Amino acid sequence: MNRKYRKTIIAGNFKMNMLPGEIRAYAESMKTLVPRARWCETVICAPFVDLTAGLKYLKEAHISVGAQNMSEHPGGAYTGEVSGAMLRDLGVKYVIIGHSERRQYFGETDLSVNEKVRAALELGLHPIICVGESAKQRELGLTESLINYQVRAALAEVSGEQARKAVIAYEPIWAIGTGNTATAEQANEVNRLIRSIIRSVYGARAARATSILYGGSMNEKNAYELLAQPDIDGGLIGGASLVPEKFAAIVNASNQE
Ligand code: PGA
Repeated sequence: MNRKYRKTIIAGNFKMNMLPGEIRAYAESMKTLVPRARWCETVICAPFVDLTAGLKYLKEAHISVGAQNMSEHPGGAYTGEVSGAMLRDLGVKYVIIGHSERRQYFGETDLSVNEKVRAALELGLHPIICVGESAKQRELGLTESLINYQVRAALAEVSGEQARKAVIAYEPIWAIGTGNTATAEQANEVNRLIRSIIRSVYGARAARATSILYGGSMNEKNAYELLAQPDIDGGLIGGASLVPEKFAAIVNASNQE
């Protein structure tokens, strides 16, 4: 982390978990465990149907609310979809875009990711753009070229000014939900690469100011070491974010100089 130049963000990704009726108790636990984390921005990215309860109760715990996806279309005949304008109207601040589960199961492509990123930024939402390689791609030595492509594709035709609102999350697919965390060095190496890509597209100042997160089996045990890395500005946390004690411990682990 480097709190002088950029924001530390600890974001939970509930995925398809947590009933709307469970949010209040979750928020109350978080409020007791971490009354107010001034050293980072804490975010919960919840299922769409949880957002209203999230905005109501998580706010009291000083936790911002994000969605896990949005449509690339502004509105219209797209049954089952949710637009960025709808999210913004609710008061949602962040939206995860291009999570590997969406790329894998729901046909998300680098092009649709780019469309969604641009739509989110137009509306003033902060996209949390996910990139990351599979185990096979890593084994074949393709990590660097893949990340380079994914980051550039996600930000294609995004101006420097707009890009300042974007957050990037490096999430190696082999580390998600597997308990197989990347080592702090591995994660930092890719995060540093992402920063160098931002630098070559938008310049040094933008690179220094961009929050680049790590995600993939981050938990209360490994968070401190991961977050101590200079280019890891926070985490995107799945499983461990569902348990207030664990998520709170991760928020607290980001309180380091
Ligand atoms: P995990 O998920 O922490 O359960 O590995 C992270 C993510 O998919 O964002």
